[in-house]
Amino acid sequence: MEEQSRSILITWWLGYIWSHTSTVFLEEDYNIIIVDNLSNSDISVLDKIKEITWKKLKFYDLDIRNLEEFEKVFKNHPEIEGIIHFAAKKAVGESCQDPFLYYENNVIWTHNLLKLMQKYNKKNIVFSSSATVYDSPKLLPPFSENDRVGTYNPYGTTKLIMEYMLKDLATFKWFNVVNLRYFNPIWAHHSGLIGEDPKWVPSNLIPYILKVANWEIEHVQIFWDDYDTVDGTGVRDYIHVMDVAEAHLSAFNQILKYREYLLENKIDSNRWYFDIFNIWTGDGKSVKEIIELVEKVTEKEIPYKIVSRRPGDIDTSIANAQKAKQVLGREYSRSMYQAIEDAWRFIQKNNS
Ligand code: UD1
Repeated sequence: MEEQSRSILITWWLGYIWSHTSTVFLEEDYNIIIVDNLSNSDISVLDKIKEITWKKLKFYDLDIRNLEEFEKVFKNHPEIEGIIHFAAKKAVGESCQDPFLYYENNVIWTHNLLKLMQKYNKKNIVFSSSATVYDSPKLLPPFSENDRVGTYNPYGTTKLIMEYMLKDLATFKWFNVVNLRYFNPIWAHHSGLIGEDPKWVPSNLIPYILKVANWEIEHVQIFWDDYDTVDGTGVRDYIHVMDVAEAHLSAFNQILKYREYLLENKIDSNRWYFDIFNIWTGDGKSVKEIIELVEKVTEKEIPYKIVSRRPGDIDTSIANAQKAKQVLGREYSRSMYQAIEDAWRFIQKNNS
């Protein structure tokens, strides 16, 4: 008998990790149902995903704050086996200016989603969390999943609240949950079709440097060079977005494997799965090292100036990569050079 494709629901809002993740799941023959209200997104990305995978997604243009509308998706798709939950706002500065926006969008969206998951008995979820939940000023890198958490801005707080909500639901309502704590993803598919090319001045380092390489911005501002690092500039664990995307598939498979194990061994199905993984390389690069890499890839000189520290920045953020390797059997497989090459290809393709 032919095996039926599995179906997942993806919540999408801004960001691009969802689109890269969709390509990974589609290539594994999953059916994908997407919800987004399009208020901040570019719908043309759906065609690009089709061009990459030759497969179609089912798309719902709706606001997931609207519980009634959102419920229709669950009614229409009883075949959904799991949810990959990306929908969230993610700018630290914006969250400090308007915390309520973040509580409403991130926490209430998630609350609505979880309520429907409970109602329709869909209990498998992979959640996009962030390394921002680590109490980094009080920790020594690399950060491990068991390290203490603590947040310093409303964006981080909403991520932590959502992690806690999911933990409660795993414990008391038998949800199966994997929280993925992303470090610093660099967005671009090797096809050059999907990636990040912000129309505004980006706040993250790599898109900013690429805009300098593309002569859209005059120079990079390095936020100070007296940190306790290899060359005094901030060190981060940058990761190719396709490695991040593939980690979602491994995380989801982990939940499925657990459910199958329960079934095969006739174990009470009211058991839950909860785990957290860093998504990560375990290796760090400084701002100056990244500038040098971009110069190599683009064959352009990148001018920079040292300016004062950005409030809230820490010297080093690096993941302990062991747990994902041991439990999910997953390690990153793309170099930083490749990540920047792919990002640069995307920018050139989209600006020609
Ligand atoms: C930021 C967010 C984090 C979020 C992540 C997503 C903050 C405090 N943290 O992390 O919550 O999950 O983005 O990718 O905003 N830098 C410069 N010049 C620039 C921009 C950055 O020197 O114009 C430096 C920063 O000081 C830092 C490094 O580059 O050392 C990386 O910065 P960025 O890309 O903004 O990422 P994070 O601050 O690590």
